[in-house]
Amino acid sequence: MTPTPPFPQGPAEASKKDSRPVNRCDHLGSHPFSDTQDGLFRAYLSPAHAATCKQVALWMHEAGMATRTDTAGNLIGRYEGQTPGAPALLIGSHLDSVRNAGRYDGTLGVMLGIEVVAHLAAQGERLPFAIEVIGFGDEEGSRFPASMLTSRAVAGTLDALPLGTVDASGTTLHDVLHQNGLDPARYLEAAYKPEQVVGYLEAHIEQGPVLEAAGLGVGVVTAIAAQYRFKVSIQGVAGHAGTMPMSLRKDALAAAAQAMVAIERIGANGPPDLVATVGQLHVGPGASNVVPGQTTFSLDIRAGTAQVRDQATTQICEALQNIADERGVGLSIELQNDLPATPCNPALTACLAASVTRITGQAAHHLVSGAGHDAMVMAALTPVCMLFLRCHQGISHNPAEAVRHDDAHTAFLVMLDFIRAFATTTAHKPTEFSA
Ligand code: GLV
Ligand code: MN
Ligand code: MN
Repeated sequence: MTPTPPFPQGPAEASKKDSRPVNRCDHLGSHPFSDTQDGLFRAYLSPAHAATCKQVALWMHEAGMATRTDTAGNLIGRYEGQTPGAPALLIGSHLDSVRNAGRYDGTLGVMLGIEVVAHLAAQGERLPFAIEVIGFGDEEGSRFPASMLTSRAVAGTLDALPLGTVDASGTTLHDVLHQNGLDPARYLEAAYKPEQVVGYLEAHIEQGPVLEAAGLGVGVVTAIAAQYRFKVSIQGVAGHAGTMPMSLRKDALAAAAQAMVAIERIGANGPPDLVATVGQLHVGPGASNVVPGQTTFSLDIRAGTAQVRDQATTQICEALQNIADERGVGLSIELQNDLPATPCNPALTACLAASVTRITGQAAHHLVSGAGHDAMVMAALTPVCMLFLRCHQGISHNPAEAVRHDDAHTAFLVMLDFIRAFATTTAHKPTEFSA
């Protein structure tokens, strides 16, 4: 079923001109690794996700790893250390995607992890810790309205599973798990114990323009922005588009339009790190000759600190309530996701920055991530650090996403150097760090 991979075979083929991790992302960029025939959409526990895990597991095997799927549907490859069963350095990112996605968001971090292990295995090099490469199943929240479900399961921060939540087809998470041979009652068993891990490293495209503007291939993340995701519902009254006078309407879509303009204004008037986005809108009943009676839309609010995010959230909620009151429509704002700002671990980050300097010959550029990452969830389990790769014009969540092969090669070398440096310090002993 799977076509022959269009890249060189062999244990360690990462190269400056032709990066195997980049080629592998390209290979995974379309059907059957996408749920859509046009472009890329890989939803959690979809047929494309299953095909992707099957292919990636083969690459993990080839690289010298034993593989398993955990109870949350994450794909995990393990490369033993000098002592079998030793705690592991986790290298991860996500395999799911947004709709009409780019090919590198998430997937490249997993492919780079595999490449690093392939290189170590080819040299017969074992470390004082094991390495586990994790392809997380759900980071984006693009199938169910609850992002980072699977890293939260691994980090042990998921108290209860929203089993009744439904995807766009109305199928519950409960049923989707069953259809994929996963037992909802065992989902939380994916959790690691802190003593099983020594740290978490994630490589990811920057998804912003900073590194490109600075002329740098890689950078080191210091922190990940705080984010909220809400579902906003406006309840108006559906009516006949021909007979209902304008003065008597309770148009839920007109109210939503006004709300969106207010959200944009509040986001734009805040500090530069504040962003507020409406990315999804559903209109009911959704006919050209019916005054809309119901709308729901997503609201995503982020900032470098929880304080700025929360202040903007209060302003937005007040503005939306005023609009609803003036128009006489109902309003509900439901919090779906609350991710606090996450600092990366200072010691691991310093170690990663030193590797960047050794490999590139330049001081490491430090930056804050506005995008969310599995690392922000994993920080509750273990010390985390993140390496960013330049991406063209900062474009992401878009099929035009592009990375350079030489940057992926640099990232591969930095990750390898980091792992070796980390192994020579006592830093990999969990007691040396607080997460
Ligand atoms: C994930 O890509 C996010 O930042 O929403
Ligand atoms: Mn993404
Ligand atoms: Mn991502």
